Amino acid sequence: MCHLIAGDLNTIQDQSALPFRCISPAFRSRGALRCRPQLCSSRQWPEREETEMTSPAQTKNLTVTRHTDIMGRHPGGSRWAEVPIEDGRNRVVWISGPPGTPSDPHIHPDFNEYWVILDGVTRYQIGQYGPIDAEWGDIMIAPAGYAHDIHPIEGEQAIRLGVTHPDSNHDIKGVPPSRLIPADVGLSSPNLIHTSMKGLLEKHGTDSNWKELAVLDARNRALITHELPGTVNRRYWHPDMDKWWAVIAGQIEFSISDQKPVTAGPGDLVFVPGGTSHNLMTIGDKASIRITMTAPDIVHHYTDDQDAPAAPNG
Ligand SMILES: [Fe+2]
Repeated sequence: MCHLIAGDLNTIQDQSALPFRCISPAFRSRGALRCRPQLCSSRQWPEREETEMTSPAQTKNLTVTRHTDIMGRHPGGSRWAEVPIEDGRNRVVWISGPPGTPSDPHIHPDFNEYWVILDGVTRYQIGQYGPIDAEWGDIMIAPAGYAHDIHPIEGEQAIRLGVTHPDSNHDIKGVPPSRLIPADVGLSSPNLIHTSMKGLLEKHGTDSNWKELAVLDARNRALITHELPGTVNRRYWHPDMDKWWAVIAGQIEFSISDQKPVTAGPGDLVFVPGGTSHNLMTIGDKASIRITMTAPDIVHHYTDDQDAPAAPNG
């Protein structure tokens, strides 16, 4: 994989002259991508075309969507998108774009959109904010009415998990962001344009359990949780919503209803339908990081609470 060193992609005229270097060991160590320098030296910037969207019913809302499975369904370095989750509130789109994927600036005035970066580096330009390079574990938000433009710039293919409205309308195209000011200066979460995972790890450290609310709007609540090995949470269920997680780091054992527990690791998605009891435990010898996606007004029924109703789905 390669790393575009410098330059605003919109201002560079001679793409073949761009300097590239290999990406950091942090990404190589994850083993998801291979170094393919030939992609850099022969970079072509194709005309804009619609990314192929596949969403076979048998791969939606699985208890576990494996990172390796979803990546294995497509050739390396290619453009594609799948819909692994539709939970009623959101359409969740797993998007792959190699560096050089053509620009598609657009705007939607009636819903917020956000993304979790799972691999590579993706450059965002959102509303009036200057370009932001997002990488592993980062969350980016385009508030309703903010033009946004997204460029994969690093990795054999940059991977982002888009969380958009189930009836999303992306018809207002060709609206470039204005790029005037730096983003997130002195602000605190939730709902930052850019929630940096690296920044959160520097802020909270890695030797304790912590949480950070990254997104809270009328449709969604996204909570980042860092837990040490052996941490177990209380078993509970939620009456009115499906729930899902994106595992960012470590290994987490999910115990859902009376099913055999399943273990999920980096890049895996886990889905639990409403009315289904569940709890989580961080296993192995490393801390885990997960992003929990729920409705904003989440209701918990704890199974060890004698007054709690029984979970309808066990
Ligand atoms: Fe959008």
